[in-house]
Amino acid sequence: MLTMKDIIREGHEALNKVAEEVQIPLSDEDRNTLFLMLEYIRNSQDEEIATKYQLRPSVGIAAPQINILKRMIAIYTTDEKNEVLYNLMLVNPKIISHSEEMTFLQQGEGCLSVDREVPGYVFRYKKITVQGYQLNENGDLLKVKLRLKGYVAIVVQHEIDHLHGILFTERIDKANPYKVSENLNPIIFE
Ligand code: NI
Repeated sequence: MLTMKDIIREGHEALNKVAEEVQIPLSDEDRNTLFLMLEYIRNSQDEEIATKYQLRPSVGIAAPQINILKRMIAIYTTDEKNEVLYNLMLVNPKIISHSEEMTFLQQGEGCLSVDREVPGYVFRYKKITVQGYQLNENGDLLKVKLRLKGYVAIVVQHEIDHLHGILFTERIDKANPYKVSENLNPIIFE
């Protein structure tokens, strides 16, 4: 299993590098890496396991965060209405279209690779369409096109940023970290 010691932190050069496309069909090694990534996220949300292994809670992880420069991400979260559960292992995800409208998280974003509170808002597209491959729990890889909105769209954009070597901290306006343009609403959790 992965623990916090496997996760590289801000300042490590791999976090600023562009990750490579993953070869399809998926190798056993890549499949195993993606399963381990999802397992970390799920374990981190289990109070007992997280306490025992000192796992920082998280809803998503990208392969570069474990120093593997490949385009793979894993996400486990509900939407902001607590209605839909997203249990996603994605390979070569790409945003092929997005809304003009932007949104943000009122509490700001966090990251397993950033060991500090960073004040400020991160503006993201409210809706995105992602194309790529989805690995299901049986180990099958399926070509997918996902239309996502709201909170999960923000999480996916944060993780895809890691594949481009971008941390959320770089997207905050340092001079005006809490400045919000008009007509722009945050995600509300119900
Ligand atoms: Ni992150």
